[in-house]
Amino acid sequence: MLDDMVAAIDNRSAQGIAAAIGRMVSAGELPVGDRLPTVRELSKALGVSPTTVSEAWKTLAAVGAIDPRGRLGTFVRQPPGPGGTHRYRRITDGPGRFDLDLSTGFPDVGLLPDLRPIVADVSRQSLTSSYLDRPVLPELWDHLHASWPFPPEELTVVDGAMDAIDRVARELVHLGDRVVVENPTFPPVLDLFEQLGAEVIGVNLDAEGLVLAELASALEYEPRLVFVQPRAHNPTGTTWSAKRARAVSRLVAPTAAVVVEDDHSGDIASGEPVSVGTWLPDRTVHIRSYSKSHGPDLRLAAVGGAGSVIDRVTDRRLLGPGWSSRILQSVLLALLTDPTATWAVEAARHAYASRRREFTRALAERGVATTGTDGINQWVEVADERSALVGLAARGIGVAPGEPFMVRPAGDHLRITIGLLDGPISAIEHLAEQVADVAGGPGARVGRRPS
Ligand SMILES: Cc1ncc(COP(=O)(O)O)c(C=O)c1O
Repeated sequence: MLDDMVAAIDNRSAQGIAAAIGRMVSAGELPVGDRLPTVRELSKALGVSPTTVSEAWKTLAAVGAIDPRGRLGTFVRQPPGPGGTHRYRRITDGPGRFDLDLSTGFPDVGLLPDLRPIVADVSRQSLTSSYLDRPVLPELWDHLHASWPFPPEELTVVDGAMDAIDRVARELVHLGDRVVVENPTFPPVLDLFEQLGAEVIGVNLDAEGLVLAELASALEYEPRLVFVQPRAHNPTGTTWSAKRARAVSRLVAPTAAVVVEDDHSGDIASGEPVSVGTWLPDRTVHIRSYSKSHGPDLRLAAVGGAGSVIDRVTDRRLLGPGWSSRILQSVLLALLTDPTATWAVEAARHAYASRRREFTRALAERGVATTGTDGINQWVEVADERSALVGLAARGIGVAPGEPFMVRPAGDHLRITIGLLDGPISAIEHLAEQVADVAGGPGARVGRRPS
């Protein structure tokens, strides 16, 4: 192996050594799990100082290509898999295929605040004077800071919650790192971690949030990141209690993990915004999306919390898009402060809560079990996922399969975006009837559960 490495290294700077070995790992020329030569061996063979090789090792470890295990030596890691978006693409068939498409996880556009009067008022003048202006409009920054669930060390605005998760994950997670997520969770997050080559550990939820005993076991694997949705969890509708958030902070405190909180429902969630950042502000990154409350096409989310992480995101972004459109930021600020718009968002919150309540009740009356209390999605337990999906599709109703949300299998489920049910109660009753019809079999209907 030593000879092959020496032959492949044509540039003997630390950067050149790291690049050549990185290429060999990616190409599979250095078998995963093999021990690399020691710093001393390689530096001698290359005729460079041990410091140069050490630096190269550091770079390779930071991108997850190698795994330094102290006295045991340094080992080759698994390069990232082909990745893709296979889970995400499985949850929705796209518009037009069903008479009633409840597979989308999308908000009801009829409940979004009206943009027209706001846009007419937004000035393009003097919003940006330099490419190096602060990325967040100062007035929006003040508004976000004042409404954050804990005093954030740093705060910025990016293009939606998924953009925030992607940017934060890319800063924190490298090949071979472990990450903890809720089981089930939002499928593109699983796709993203897979693409980064991370090992995902799923922790189940109960009615108050992460199951503490499971989290404690997961933390023993020294994860880099714990990804959670403390409010209106997609898909289960769980909102954490403050007590659970506190208990999670106690478990995470002695570890090195960063907690990444995705408050994707933001202002349309009924529950209080709880955050581990209340107790661990320097180890929590809290994300608040405005997609569900103010419109997915604004493409805006705020990210606040641990300065060490957010500074890195902001710096890296400066070498890409730089900032989120200040025109859109000023639209958001106007929406957050305009009485008519804030009233519309409040009305939307009540409408979603009422749709959820009615559908939950209608299903319960028909003996079908659901979970959670918050948000636009309902997680429904069924006896057989595939036949339930097909049964609903045959009735012109689209819903999402439960399987892509799962870190590990735990029964059959459907995710139904009940936030889109804008009709009368009779329509909700009708849908519940159809869902109860396909849910079928023991295990799905309460009261017919096997003991
Ligand atoms: C849990 C979760 N995170 C993130 C997102 C994406 O949010 P955004 O539109 O802000 O990117 C969604 C969208 O449904 C979601 O359910």
